[in-house]
Amino acid sequence: MDSRTQSVSVCASMAPRLALDIQPRWEEIADVRRRTAAFLKDQQIARDVVDAVAMVACELTENATKYGAFRDGAAISVSVTVQPQAITVEVTNPITHTERENLNRLDRMIQWIRGFQDPFEAYLQRLKELSTEGLDSTESRLGLVRIAYEGQAVLDFYVNEHDVLAVSAIRRM
Ligand SMILES: Nc1ncnc2c1ncn2[C@@H]1O[C@H](COP(=O)(O)OP(=O)(O)O)[C@@H](O)[C@H]1O
Ligand SMILES: [Mg+2]
Repeated sequence: MDSRTQSVSVCASMAPRLALDIQPRWEEIADVRRRTAAFLKDQQIARDVVDAVAMVACELTENATKYGAFRDGAAISVSVTVQPQAITVEVTNPITHTERENLNRLDRMIQWIRGFQDPFEAYLQRLKELSTEGLDSTESRLGLVRIAYEGQAVLDFYVNEHDVLAVSAIRRM
């Protein structure tokens, strides 16, 4: 059974939006990239922007898959919205109320990236740190930095009253 749902809404009063509900499985991540790229191409977005935003959707979905607290079939939602001034990617996953370690790390990482005038500097700094830490960990902590630098997107997040985390990345056009 295909557990994924997809909707694409385009009407005169609304910004074109791709909405996906997926299960936290590794094989879904490549699919999110493909669907995001196909959707953006349909909106006549330039090729380099399509690739960059598809990468952003992929990194955020990977994080949701890795760090989400999934029970009772809870899913990940991915949305990509195209507005004249910006493309926004938002990915949600449930978190546990008690386990705040990852949330704190997410918060610290986003603040840390914001502290650089040019996200390229954050990227270089992180690469430098990695060269001393070694690359054997699955947590390279490069994902958010790539979103900021290669994706040219500004990161933010919030947690709603149902303990669902939404991480957004906005790329201005
Ligand atoms: N969706 C998420 N839910 C909970 N924690 C997250 C999420 N995304 C990121 N984080 C936290 O932010 C850290 C940095 O993320 P990232 O830069 O993508 O590195 P990595 O995926 O290699 O750990 C993660 O290690 C994790 O602790
Ligand atoms: Mg990551």
